[in-house]
Amino acid sequence: MCGIIGYIGNKPATPVLVQGLRRLEYRGYDSSGVALLQDGAITRVRSVGKIDNLAEKLKGQEFSATSGIAHTRWATHGGVTEENAHPHAALGGKLVLVHNGIMENYREIKEELQKEGVECVSQTDTEVLAHLIGKYYAGNLRSAVQKALERVHGTYGIVAMHLDEPERLVAARMGSPIVVGGQEDEYYIASDATPILPYTKKVIFLADGEIADVSRNGIEICTLTNKPVEKKVEELDWDENQAQLQGFPHFMLKEIFDQPQVFQDAIRGRYDLADGTARLGGLNMNEEQMRSINRVIFIACGTASYAGMVGKYAFERLAGIPAEVDVASEFRYRDPIIDDKTLVFVISQSGETADTLAALREAKRKGAFVRGIVNVVGSTIAREAEGGTYIHAGPELAVASTKAYTNMVAVMMLYALQFGRARRVSHATGVRLLEAMREIPEKMKQILAEVDTIKAMAEKYKDYQDMLFLGRGINYPVALEGSLKLKEISYIHSEAYPGGEMKHGAIALLSPDFPVLAIMTKNSLYDKMRSNIEEVKARGAKIILVATVGDERAKELSDDVIFVPPTMELLEPLINTIALQLFAYHVAVLLGKDVDRPRNLAKSVTVE
Ligand code: F6R
Repeated sequence: MCGIIGYIGNKPATPVLVQGLRRLEYRGYDSSGVALLQDGAITRVRSVGKIDNLAEKLKGQEFSATSGIAHTRWATHGGVTEENAHPHAALGGKLVLVHNGIMENYREIKEELQKEGVECVSQTDTEVLAHLIGKYYAGNLRSAVQKALERVHGTYGIVAMHLDEPERLVAARMGSPIVVGGQEDEYYIASDATPILPYTKKVIFLADGEIADVSRNGIEICTLTNKPVEKKVEELDWDENQAQLQGFPHFMLKEIFDQPQVFQDAIRGRYDLADGTARLGGLNMNEEQMRSINRVIFIACGTASYAGMVGKYAFERLAGIPAEVDVASEFRYRDPIIDDKTLVFVISQSGETADTLAALREAKRKGAFVRGIVNVVGSTIAREAEGGTYIHAGPELAVASTKAYTNMVAVMMLYALQFGRARRVSHATGVRLLEAMREIPEKMKQILAEVDTIKAMAEKYKDYQDMLFLGRGINYPVALEGSLKLKEISYIHSEAYPGGEMKHGAIALLSPDFPVLAIMTKNSLYDKMRSNIEEVKARGAKIILVATVGDERAKELSDDVIFVPPTMELLEPLINTIALQLFAYHVAVLLGKDVDRPRNLAKSVTVE
C-alpha cells in the first residue's frame, strides 16, 4: 500500500527521494510528501495526486539536504488532503515521521495527548504516533521511538527523523515491511527493495519488533527493548533493468511480455529430464515425510489463489494427493482442520500479504508442513515459511499480477511432479511433462504474437458493461483469473463460472448485451464445453472463444476466436491465461484507465 523511502548520505537527498517515490508508485497512492533536513530546519513539502505534482512543488526550491524521508500515502484515516499526507510532524516541526500500517489504538492515545496540550492538525493515526514519539523524546530518537512503539497496537513500518540528531534516521517494523541497505557513507531505508535497487543489492529486511538506527556510518539493528540483533545481509538477484519500462507503455504490458523469459528462470536447474522428475531443494522434506503427506492445502489471495487452484489440479492428477485451495482471509478465521500430515503451500508474489501471512502462522501453529511459493526475496512469508521456493519472476510493478501468476503455476507443476514421481507418476509421464514445460516459452511467444488480433477484439468489446468468463477443469481457474484481470483494470463487471455450473443460475444473465468469453481448447473436456457454448449461443449472447489453433468448429460457434497453440492439458493455464491478460490490458487501455495503478487497489496488501 503506502510507500516509504529514506536517505542519509552525501548526495543531494531530493532527487533520491523523488526517484524513490516514483519507483514506489506501483504500490498505489493518492498523495505524497518529503521532509528534508538542512540549514537547521526540517522542510516538509507535500501534495495530493501524482508524484509529478510533488516534483512540481519542489522545483525551483534550493535544497542542499543530504538526508530526508518521503512517503506515498494511500488514505486510510482521513481523506486525501495535503494535511493528511506524510511526513507528519511533532515538536513544532523538529520531529518528522512517515508510517505505513494502521495504529489501532490511536484514538485513546490522541485523547491522552490532547489532554496534555498537543494539537493535531490532521485526521491521521500517523500524526498521533509522531506526537507520541515527541512526548518521549529526551535527546535520543531511538529510545523515544522504542518507548512510543511499546504503546502502539496495530501495524507499522516507520521512519523518523529529528532536527537535533541530523546524523540519524530511525526505522521500525511491525507487520509492515522495512528494508535497509547501503554502503560506506550512504544508506537507504524503504518499504520494499524497489527504490533501493539502483544503489545496492545488499539489503537487510527488518523482522517484526526490530529497529534500524541508521547513520552515515552504518546500520545498527536492535529490538524494541534495545537488545542488539545480528542480521543477515541478503543479496537481491533482481536486475535493475527489470524494474524499467524498456520501451513498453505500461509495466503491465512489459510484464506480460516478460513471461517467456521469466518462466525459464522459474524452472531452470529445478528438474532432471533424465529422471523425469523435479528437484526443488527448498522443499526441505525427506522421502518418508513426502510419503506421509495425505493432504495439500494451497493458501493465497486473489490471483495467487487462482494459481493455487491450478496447483490443486496438478497435485491431484500427478501426486494423487487430495488437495484444496483456501482464500487466506477465510482460512485464518475458520479454525481449519490440519495436522502433521498436511502440507500447506502459502503462495504470494509480495510475500507480505497480511491475510496470507496470518494464515501461514495459523498453519504452523497447527503443526502442518508449511512451504512458501514467493516472488520477493527476503519477504516475511519467505522468511517465516519453513522452506519453499522463489518463483524468480523479477520485480512485478503493475498492480495487476501477470508474470508472477505464470511462475507460481510453473513452480507448483514442478512440486506436483516431484511428489508424483515419489508416489505414482511413471518415468515416461514425468519426461513428457518436462518436455512440454520446456516448450512453453516458445508457445507463450506465439500467443504474444497475437497481440494485435486481441487488441482489435478488445476494441469491439470494450463498451459492454458486463462479461461472463467460462472454463472447465484446469481452465476454470483461468476463467477466474481472466475475469479478475478484466474487472480490476477496466472496471467492467465480470464473473467467472465453471462451464457446467452456468445453467444453475448465471445463464439467466445472458442476453445480447452480456458477452461470454469461454476457454474451449482441445482437451478432455472439449465436448462438454462445446455443449455449454451451444447453450450460450441459443441465448443470443456474443461469444469469444479461446480455442486451439486449427479448430474450425470454434470459428463457427463464436463471434471471435483467440487461437492458442496446443500443449499438455495440465499446462494450458500457462498459455491460455496470457490471452486473457492481453485482452484485459487492451480493454483497459482503450477505455483510458490507469492500467498500472487501478483505482482503490494496492500492490501489496499489508493490512487486513
Ligand atoms: C490481482 C492481484 C491480487 C494479488 C493478491 C495477492 O491482479 O494482483 O489479487 O494476487 O493481492 O497478492 P500477493 O501475491 O502479493 O500475496
